[in-house]
Amino acid sequence: MEIMLWRELLEPYGMAVDELMLKFTQIRDGYRRRGLYSPIEQVDGRLKTISSILEKVQRKNLVIDEFEEKLDDIAGIRIICQFVEDIERVVEIIHQREDLRVISEKDYVSSSKDSGYRSYHMIILYKVHTIRGPREVKCEIQIRTLAMNFWATVEHSLQYKYDQDIPDEIRERLTNAADAIVVLDSEMSYVRQEIMDAQNSFRLKANVVSDILNNIQNLYKVSNKREILKIQDEFFRLYKSGNLKDLERFNKELDIISEGYRAQSLE
Ligand code: GTP
Ligand code: MG
Repeated sequence: MEIMLWRELLEPYGMAVDELMLKFTQIRDGYRRRGLYSPIEQVDGRLKTISSILEKVQRKNLVIDEFEEKLDDIAGIRIICQFVEDIERVVEIIHQREDLRVISEKDYVSSSKDSGYRSYHMIILYKVHTIRGPREVKCEIQIRTLAMNFWATVEHSLQYKYDQDIPDEIRERLTNAADAIVVLDSEMSYVRQEIMDAQNSFRLKANVVSDILNNIQNLYKVSNKREILKIQDEFFRLYKSGNLKDLERFNKELDIISEGYRAQSLE
């Protein structure tokens, strides 16, 4: 097949990767903007390279013309979570979406592969609109925790280094490490609520501080210097005391002051 033809065949898959990465990142940011804990920590994605497609076609003894039909991971998205519990939540979110269709799922979280690999896999159909019109393409979504991702990344590098034939003693180490990851993930689950509470209050505070600073910046344009200095002093005082409720109340007061100036300027 000609290189130009490859480029065109892969284009909708590349679009799917870009769009899905953006959409999953927006879900994460949506939670965070509201000061909520996000089950999604990080989103990665990649379009399989032509050489890696050719390699897989050869390894699986496929006919080149059926690569789109037989390969599920030409478009690949990876969603990384902090906690095992988050994986189920992400799976639910994906099922509820109307812009994609789940066609198969594999749960290597509940039962790992022989290698020790753990992840939740979903194959989905996703529609993109190219200049030639709509195309529905397959995409593989891998959902795993930070710890599972650490293991899979290291194991993948070793597979690469040893050309898929990892020596027994290293295999054994990897199996031990995989067991340790299971323990680590379950230990982390115990402290999950603590961490979620801490993260939420940290994000809420970051949000309210950013709102206050925005308000102050806008007031600079319309208010007098004395008033601004008073507002700034009050902000520093509240910031030092670190009380979230006080900061929120202060932000509301600034909203009202800003609203007052806006109303005046419209008169
Ligand atoms: P592939 O032919 O690799 O697509 O396998 P499959 O069709 O049987 O699907 P499976 O769900 O087992 O694997 C899909 C993808 O998961 C792989 O392409 C890898 O990215 C990842 N994966 C599966 N098993 C392992 C493993 O043992 N180690 C690592 N590091 N990744 C794995
Ligand atoms: Mg596969």
